[in-house]
Amino acid sequence: MKKVLHKLGKWADDRGGFSELMKPLKTHLVPPGSAWNYVWGSATLFCLIIQVVTGIALSFLYQPSADVAYTSLQYIENQAFLGSFIRGLHNWGASGMVFLMGMHMIRVYIFAAYKYPREMSWITGVFLMAITIVMAFTGQLLRWDNNGVWSAVVAAEQMGRIPIIGDSIAYFLLGGSTIGGETLNRFFAMHVFLFPAILFMLVGYHLFLVFRNGISEPPKIGRLVDPKTYRTWYENMLQKKGVPFFPDAIWRDAVFSALVLIILVALAWFVGAPALTSPPDLTNVNADPKPDWYFTWIFALFALMPRQIESYVIFFGPLIGGTLLFAIPFLSNKGERSPLRRPWAIAGVSFIILSICSLWYIGIRAPWSPHFDAEPLSEYTSVPQATEEQEKGIEYFNTVGCLYCHKINSHGGIRGPELTQVQNRLTREQIIIRIVNGAENMPAYGGALSKEELSALVSFLMAEDKSGAKPLSE
Ligand code: HEC
Repeated sequence: MKKVLHKLGKWADDRGGFSELMKPLKTHLVPPGSAWNYVWGSATLFCLIIQVVTGIALSFLYQPSADVAYTSLQYIENQAFLGSFIRGLHNWGASGMVFLMGMHMIRVYIFAAYKYPREMSWITGVFLMAITIVMAFTGQLLRWDNNGVWSAVVAAEQMGRIPIIGDSIAYFLLGGSTIGGETLNRFFAMHVFLFPAILFMLVGYHLFLVFRNGISEPPKIGRLVDPKTYRTWYENMLQKKGVPFFPDAIWRDAVFSALVLIILVALAWFVGAPALTSPPDLTNVNADPKPDWYFTWIFALFALMPRQIESYVIFFGPLIGGTLLFAIPFLSNKGERSPLRRPWAIAGVSFIILSICSLWYIGIRAPWSPHFDAEPLSEYTSVPQATEEQEKGIEYFNTVGCLYCHKINSHGGIRGPELTQVQNRLTREQIIIRIVNGAENMPAYGGALSKEELSALVSFLMAEDKSGAKPLSE
């Protein structure tokens, strides 16, 4: 038996050249002491592989067409074998990839691994970051529920505010002047064909560069990078002290990636993908979407910013940010690499990380956006001796979505003012006008409510006492 196996192995290797295929890995030397800090990049790549596998699995069942996308996702989520798990893994894999990519980038920056001769690695990395973000973003829309769609629409609207070319970009993204079936098709094509293709090419090139220029050695205070001598020095160092990438360094990558896999599987299994909110309502232009966590901070930034400067920030923000990122290896490609000797660089990156974290914190609390999960109003509010009309008003207040933005008895959204005492501020007519016409951040309900609904709402709002904490249904 052993003999047969040995023979088989020999045959396969002779004809298939597997050991030859592995040879570059075994002979490729890496600097000694490249410790756990170096695992972020390979873990990002590992997440990408998870995304490809789960993405293909999802595409077996997902139908990128406006009328059935939502139903097909519900089928995946509720009926398909392992469907909900795979959707969860794809979702958490995306989060993992964005997170690990961020860590990888921070690590490279802190250790100044972008300096000579690895500038091109940094530049392709910046492109990879952009495309990863675009992938995350286009993926959100494919969810084709209210949240996914509206996050995308808001972003397209923001694109539309870019001077001169904005409208064309938005038109191109949405596949028309508004969101519709074409939008879904277009995002699907971008998410599964266009951007993955670019991503794979860039990843391939990025990896090629890692092999060609070698992994940067751990920085040491006082050891400066000099483009004139660096390559010779690096070669000599490798010859003297280098260790083979396989197996001396790769085991750390493998262990860490396995850990990432365990965490992602656990998250996918126990937490799962975000619940599908509800089919998108393309007429409800005022819905306020909650984007996935890695975009929350951008939404927070825009929500906090005065409206007048938004257009400029949308245009110049990414432009300046992108240019700076590109410029980093050109601004300083030699000299000290140790973070201990680059206090300003470290202060800068800490400042950026802190700002993003605090914006993110504000963003997840999102005081400006409606609370779609507010409890039904009738659970904690009643009007003493309510007329039938007022009781209906309580129901409507809840069902047509007023509660998402307005508090009654300190429950509900805080995008609009609390309405418990509105009868003291406004007359009946003023309330009607407000509901029918809406306001800057309130949808106009004129066409959406029947006469009865409107008058029920108003008589509820006009009620003197809306405090009755006793539930109606009892
Ligand atoms: C998307 C969030 C949102 C929704 C949904 C919403 N509103 Fe508003 N509403 C607001 C905002 C914001 C204001 C403040 C507008 C302003 O004055 O600039 C407001 C103002 C009001 C006011 C005036 C309050 C005052 O003190 O001036 C009334 C009354 C009102 N809304 C009733 C309703 C009713 C009834 C509904 C449901 C049919 C509703 N709103 C749905 C956001 C919302």
